[in-house]
Amino acid sequence: MLKLSKKKKRSLKSNYPLITDKDVNFAFAEAFRVFAVNLRFTFSQKSSRKVIITGSNENMGKTMISTNLSIALAQSGYKVLLIDCDIRKPCVHKLFKDENVIGLTHLLCDESDIKDTIKKSEVENLYYITAGMTSPNPLKLLLSQEMTDLLNNLSKEYDWIILDTPPVNVVSDALILSNNSDGVILVTEEKITEYKEIAKAIEQVKYVNGNLLGIVLNRASNKSSKKYYSYSYGEK
Ligand SMILES: Nc1ncnc2c1ncn2[C@@H]1O[C@H](COP(=O)(O)OP(=O)(O)OP(=O)(O)O)[C@@H](O)[C@H]1O
Ligand SMILES: [Mg+2]
Repeated sequence: MLKLSKKKKRSLKSNYPLITDKDVNFAFAEAFRVFAVNLRFTFSQKSSRKVIITGSNENMGKTMISTNLSIALAQSGYKVLLIDCDIRKPCVHKLFKDENVIGLTHLLCDESDIKDTIKKSEVENLYYITAGMTSPNPLKLLLSQEMTDLLNNLSKEYDWIILDTPPVNVVSDALILSNNSDGVILVTEEKITEYKEIAKAIEQVKYVNGNLLGIVLNRASNKSSKKYYSYSYGEK
C-alpha cells in the first residue's frame, strides 16, 4: 500500500468535518454512531454488506456522510472499505488528506494492482479506494463485469463496503451500481432538499429495483436534533 509523507499530508487541506476530529461536536459524532448501529441491525443476518450512499443533488454532504459512516462502522470493530465511485468529481481522497493517483478506474481498466490501490486509513479497520483518473464514460466502467467481479471479491474480505456516488437526479451512476449492492441510502438536507426532489430520487431507486434502506437528514438544525441529543456524556 502506498503512503504519503507527513509533510505532504499536512499540505492537503480538507474542510470536511470528521468524527475523528479532536474538537468534534458530540451530537454530530453520536449521530454517526447511531447510524452505524441502525445499519448493523438492518443487515443482522449478512456477513458482508455493500451500501450505496447517494442523494438527489450535488453538495448535500454525501461524501462527508459516506466517510463518517465508514469511520463509525470501523470504530465498532468491522473491517470497512470505502470506495469513491464518483469518477466524475472524486473527493474521498480529500477527506483522508490523500491524493487521487491510482484508484477505482485503474483497477477496472486493469492498470493497477489491488494491493497498491487499497489504502489503509489512520482509523483502525478502515480502508479506502480513491476514484482514480476521470473517465469519459463512467457508466460503462461502473456497469462492467470487472466492477461486479471486483465488488464480489472485495465483499469476501470486508464486512462493509460503502460506495460514495454522485447524485441520482443528476446522473445514473448510483442507480447502475444499485444492482451490485445490498442497499441504497439517500442523503437530504433540512430545509434545502425539496419534497419533489426526494420523491424523484426515491422513484428512481425503486425503478431499478434498488433496496432503499433509508434517508439521512444532513445539516439538521440544533433545534430539531436537540430532543434526541440534549445531553453529552463525559463532555463539559
Ligand atoms: N453536516 C455538515 N456540517 C458541516 N459541513 C458539511 C456538512 N455536510 C456537508 N458539509 C460540507 O459541504 C461540502 C459538500 O459536502 P460533500 O462533498 O460531502 O457533498 P456531496 O453531496 O458529496 O457533493 P457532490 O455532489 O459534489 O459529490 C463539504 O465542504 C462538506 O464539508
Ligand atoms: Mg461527493
